[in-house]
Amino acid sequence: MAKSSTSDDSKLYQFLQERNDPGVFPEGKESLDYWNEVADRYDNNYNGGISFKHITIGAREFDKHLMMKDVPKNAKIADIGSGTGLIGQKLKEEYHYSNMTAFDISPAMLEKAKEKSCYNDFVISDLHTDELVEYHQQFDHAISIACFVLGIIKPQALETVARLVKSGGLVTLSFREKNYDNELTGYRQKVEKMEKAGVWKQISIVLDEYMCLDPDNAVRGYYVTLQVC
Ligand SMILES: C[S@@+](CC[C@H](N)C(=O)[O-])C[C@H]1O[C@@H](n2cnc3c(N)ncnc32)[C@H](O)[C@@H]1O
Repeated sequence: MAKSSTSDDSKLYQFLQERNDPGVFPEGKESLDYWNEVADRYDNNYNGGISFKHITIGAREFDKHLMMKDVPKNAKIADIGSGTGLIGQKLKEEYHYSNMTAFDISPAMLEKAKEKSCYNDFVISDLHTDELVEYHQQFDHAISIACFVLGIIKPQALETVARLVKSGGLVTLSFREKNYDNELTGYRQKVEKMEKAGVWKQISIVLDEYMCLDPDNAVRGYYVTLQVC
């Protein structure tokens, strides 16, 4: 999967590759082609949660904070970068949320998500553009798991995520440890800059397991929950 970019990210890619970090994905149009192409086999990696820990832990963290606020199960939730719907499925089957919208750039991923019958609506959208204006402040809460990864969705799109959520709403995001703890990626800086700007307030950060496709090279991740101001 590792593939170098010709962009300014080359130093970072080198940094990650030297550490065998699997978080290097193709960019631009190649990225859309990549996600359309993997849609049919993506769920094979989930493996009941053994390898894709971020599904189990991301959904658990999100639910934990919603429960603390007594959020009703029919609250309107955006699953941003939903992919094949593993998070939606978990939130519906295990935690009984019933009013979820899936956003993703890849029509093929959303087709797989439809098969899980856990979302009420599906929006094909590129988070790197301003095309989601009609959805601004339309959601009570949002979750985005395994999307803010180097080469998948850039830090600037965190602004888009925050705009979709009503004031007071919660947002749970995951980040690979080596992406978040590396200032070259800009993820942590963007989250903190938005907090300083009064966009949101961090209410929780948890470092836990993330992905274990290769037992000798397990990846840890941060689960960050923010409250939109
Ligand atoms: C690693 S998958 C995560 C999917 C799901 N959240 C999960 O945890 O299984 C990343 C997803 O981000 C989507 N994606 C990539 N670039 C995007 C963009 N610019 N805008 C919206 N979605 C994007 C991909 O199509 C893919 O479904």
